[in-house]
Amino acid sequence: MQLRKGRQVREVVGRIAITEGQAEASEIYTNPSRARDEAVSASPQDITPEQRRVLDAALRVDQAGELAANWIYRGQMAVLGGDRQVGPLIQDMWDQERHHLAVMDKLQMQHQIRPTILSDVAKAAGFGLGFATAIMGKEAAMACTEAVETVIGEHYDDQLKELDSLSSSHPSMTLLSDVIREFRDDELGHLHAAVDHHSQRAPAHALLSTIVGYGCKVAIEVCRKF
Ligand SMILES: [Fe+2]
Ligand SMILES: [Fe+2]
Repeated sequence: MQLRKGRQVREVVGRIAITEGQAEASEIYTNPSRARDEAVSASPQDITPEQRRVLDAALRVDQAGELAANWIYRGQMAVLGGDRQVGPLIQDMWDQERHHLAVMDKLQMQHQIRPTILSDVAKAAGFGLGFATAIMGKEAAMACTEAVETVIGEHYDDQLKELDSLSSSHPSMTLLSDVIREFRDDELGHLHAAVDHHSQRAPAHALLSTIVGYGCKVAIEVCRKF
């Protein structure tokens, strides 16, 4: 995929290193010949109820986040889809979000996670955010992406550490960490693409970033529980 090309080892948001050339772990979920692998078809039985709650909350919030991301890009495309400069970029990012969501949907079924009851809210809020910032202009749309992907990239990075604490030897848990790492790197790729496309020239960039970033953090906490 276009965004994956040219990825280099680099430091992101001060502390997260993206690594060149990692295999795309998530592709096992879209490969029918691997559908019966234990890593994609079973859930660990050797974890405690508390660890199960951690896994449950993590996958619920991730699925909700990927759903919202899809609707953000849908909202941006509704306004900027025909723009020669950013239209193809937004489409590329949306395509990646579609893949992320398809994988999260499979993970949700595999581990029998209850989806968020707020999925309609996530869709509407995502579309509204994408549409409204795109109406404000290309730079504001990119600033929205920059703010969202900063929070989501950090969220996935924190989750990697949380998943380490599950200490299950089940193959699905090793795979899950690899998938989360891959998605973190994709989200940080989106963040960098947005900065490269002048997100920081958006009117009231700091205010917009603060509001969008804060909204994402609140949404993460709400979807963890509901
Ligand atoms: Fe995503
Ligand atoms: Fe993203």
